Amino acid sequence: MIFALILPACYPRFQQIRRFGAGVYKLEVETEADWWEVEALYDLCFAPGRTALSSYRLRNGVPKVAELCLTLRDHDGILAAVIRYWPVTVGGKPVLLLGPVAVHPTRQGEGLGGLLIHESLPEAFRLGWERVLLVGDAPYYQRFGFRKLEGVVMPPPTNPDRVLGLALRPGAWEGVKGSVRKAKGVVAPG
Ligand SMILES: CC(C)(COP(=O)(O)OP(=O)(O)OC[C@H]1O[C@@H](n2cnc3c(N)ncnc32)[C@H](O)[C@@H]1OP(=O)(O)O)[C@@H](O)C(=O)NCCC(=O)NCCS
Repeated sequence: MIFALILPACYPRFQQIRRFGAGVYKLEVETEADWWEVEALYDLCFAPGRTALSSYRLRNGVPKVAELCLTLRDHDGILAAVIRYWPVTVGGKPVLLLGPVAVHPTRQGEGLGGLLIHESLPEAFRLGWERVLLVGDAPYYQRFGFRKLEGVVMPPPTNPDRVLGLALRPGAWEGVKGSVRKAKGVVAPG
């Protein structure tokens, strides 16, 4: 079987076909109509009570960075993988909070999670974001360039070893330290 990425007209930057595995997938920006399916996939992939995690406190009531929230559907329209991003601040600087990213359990290990991350990060850069933060497993995210952040503190309880960052522009994390804060109002990329 051929893996082809079908890219929508509403996301012109991604108008290209890719082939690298089995299956046919369509990459789109998440819409309001996707909301319940996306939430259901997160419920399936994460432990119950996921919304009590510290990172959700930074997301509650804050609009997502809509251009970077992507869905990946198979040729039957079944949701296979999703990624969302939120704005936060650290030391008064704008930061992009990556996640949650989730791949349906029957499709994990096929490269879909990597695909969503590889597709969204260049778009984040194009939009003007300079630094990205996430809470996750370093052994997975280090392949995308994420490294443990020193001096960047997520709301408790968060294991500091899981607080990872990526500079989209060289040196973008230098001197950016302190508590991760919920965005208030519109956070312009930077
Ligand atoms: C984590 C997740 C997003 C990865 O997506 P995926 O499409 O399954 O992974 P990919 O195909 O891109 O990458 C597969 C590789 O990542 C590794 N990997 C996957 N999850 C990992 C983890 N938590 N820690 C370390 N390595 C991991 C696999 O072993 C595999 O390694 P290999 O390339 O050396 O064989 C997906 O498995 C998932 O949704 N898991 C449940 C929800 C979750 O944990 N989300 C992340 C929150 S931090």
